[in-house]
Order: sequence, then C-alpha cells, then structure tokens
Amino acid sequence: MAKIGIFVGTVYGNALLVAEEAQPLLQAQGHEVAVFNDATLAQWQPYSSEVALIGTSTIGQGDFPDSITGLYQDVKDKLGHQPALRYGVIALGDSSYDHFCGAGKTFDALLQEHGAQRTVRSPVPD
Ligand SMILES: Cc1cc2nc3c(=O)[nH]c(=O)nc-3n(C[C@H](O)[C@H](O)[C@H](O)COP(=O)(O)O)c2cc1C
Repeated sequence: MAKIGIFVGTVYGNALLVAEEAQPLLQAQGHEVAVFNDATLAQWQPYSSEVALIGTSTIGQGDFPDSITGLYQDVKDKLGHQPALRYGVIALGDSSYDHFCGAGKTFDALLQEHGAQRTVRSPVPD
C-alpha cells in the first residue's frame, strides 16, 4: 500500500475530474489517496518519500494552470534533490497546440532533474 498525493492543475475542471476518478480506483487497491488542487509546498512535502501524481492540463503556450503554478515554482525554487520521491504525471492537453501537454512535460523534467523516480507517465510523445 502506498500513500499517494494527486496534485492537480486545472482551469476548466477536467484534470480535477480525472483526479477524482483516479482516487477511488487507487483506494480500491488499498492505497491512501488525497487530491490537492491549489496545493502548497507544505502539502507536497509529506509525499517527498511517498508517491506524487501530478495531474495537470496545459494552457496558454505550454503553460501551467494557475492552480498548480505556485506549487511548481516552489518545488523548483525551494526543493533540491528528491531521490526518495516516486511520481507519475497525468498530462492533459490538446495535440492541436504546439506545446502538447507542455505543463506535464515541464513538471516531469523538473522531477527528473531532482532525481525522483518516475513510475508512471501517460504515453505522450517527447
Ligand atoms: C486557451 C487554451 C490554451 C491551451 N493551450 C494548450 C497547450 O499549449 N497545449 C496543450 O496540450 N493543450 C492546450 N490546451 C488544451 C487544454 O489543456 C485541454 O483542453 C485540457 O483538457 C483542459 O483541462 P482543464 O479543464 O483541466 O484545464 C489549451 C486550451 C485552452 C482553452
């Protein structure tokens, strides 16, 4: 059983709906799951030795929704190496945009830089 935090970035609610669909599925497998929208670094930190799922859409030109921008920036600016963190990315986007799933890819790249262990990433081409 894992302790899983799902960290949501959404504008129109789709990524939150995905997180709320995933939560009971993971709970049914015995995991402890919490969903965070507009998450803070304080909410992220208890998962630094656990599992974080980042579920974010992309807006603008490959940008993060406001509901996850602060968390991304704080993880980038205030945290360093996170080797004990296991994580996955559920990236929502639209392939008609130039920066398809850009926000999910950017968060993934940051956590790779931090030495975190990616366990899941939705199948988006690099
Ligand atoms: C103004 C606008 C800009 C968008 N820009 C991108 C983009 O750069 N890349 C992408 O993959 N999707 C982009 N999308 C598509 C959204 O990511 C997609 O519709 C997503 O499902 C929205 O999820 P949300 O309801 O959680 O915000 C954009 C959508 C809108 C309305």
